[in-house]
Amino acid sequence: MATSVDTRQLPTHMKGRDFLTFLEYSPQELQELLSLAAHLKKLKRSRTPHRLLEGRSVAMYFEKPSNRTRVSFEVGISDLGAHPFMLRKEEINLGIRETIADTARTLARYVDCVMIRTFAQKDVEELAEWSSVPVINGLTDDYHPCQVLADLLTVQERFGEFKGRKLTYLGDGNNMANSLMLGCAMVGMDVTIASPSGYQPRPDIVEKARTLAKESGATVAVSDDIKAAVKDASVLYTDVWASMGQEAEAEARKQIFKDYQVNAANMALALPEAIVLHCLPAHRGEEITADVLEKFADVIFEQAENRLHAQKAVMAAIIP
Ligand code: CP
Repeated sequence: MATSVDTRQLPTHMKGRDFLTFLEYSPQELQELLSLAAHLKKLKRSRTPHRLLEGRSVAMYFEKPSNRTRVSFEVGISDLGAHPFMLRKEEINLGIRETIADTARTLARYVDCVMIRTFAQKDVEELAEWSSVPVINGLTDDYHPCQVLADLLTVQERFGEFKGRKLTYLGDGNNMANSLMLGCAMVGMDVTIASPSGYQPRPDIVEKARTLAKESGATVAVSDDIKAAVKDASVLYTDVWASMGQEAEAEARKQIFKDYQVNAANMALALPEAIVLHCLPAHRGEEITADVLEKFADVIFEQAENRLHAQKAVMAAIIP
């Protein structure tokens, strides 16, 4: 293998598994992925070769637009010595041109992993059920686990420990809110989702997060009390108010979420050392003010970079 990495340090027990929600992994395994991501980041920064997946191929299928996911996966796959290639919606038409089962069984004969970004989580789960190679969720309407793995890496780099820290998410109770609840609960970080009534995260996902939090000693709160949510937070997190597929609701949502903006007034209630994270793309003047985004641009773009390292860790761990 063309690598200078000591492969005895790499976890092998996750080989062949899918990465769909976080719930497929134990908290210990999540920590192992974070450690591996930090290790791969050091190798990348020092330009040390780490072609751990030499000779493999990874297909990327997108039904929604992307900058970070597309580029970080493509570069990450290449860094690992594997061959990345894009499958467009027009080519695959998941579930329309042929059954999802047939798409999965065919792709698995050619490639070693499939990364998919689509709308319905059930489609990703069906693809994974029929695929004999690992499937990675690159975002659905319900979850965005690759993003949250990168977010946790960013928090760990900034604060060292998760325990005793609170992440507060302001805005829509969407896929980001869901995955942040699960990820924070698993690593033992308190998490509060502040969303208006009618836009709060799904109760079944809140319950899953609370079950995980019981194990880790963290808390999971959902509230429309913005001031209480922001108070003493170490991390303020936000996302666009209209996700991909909700463009027709964008104007109405500006009114619904206007009090949930990350701005200087809300920052003043957080801890003095608090950081702001944003999964991007950002809409300045909506979910975040331009001044706050620029003040925290270093950490926000470090967070974007960490997509690369986090996803490489997932691929190195799960692709046989
Ligand atoms: N945060 C995120 O997933 O970015 P893209 O939509 O650009 O991939």
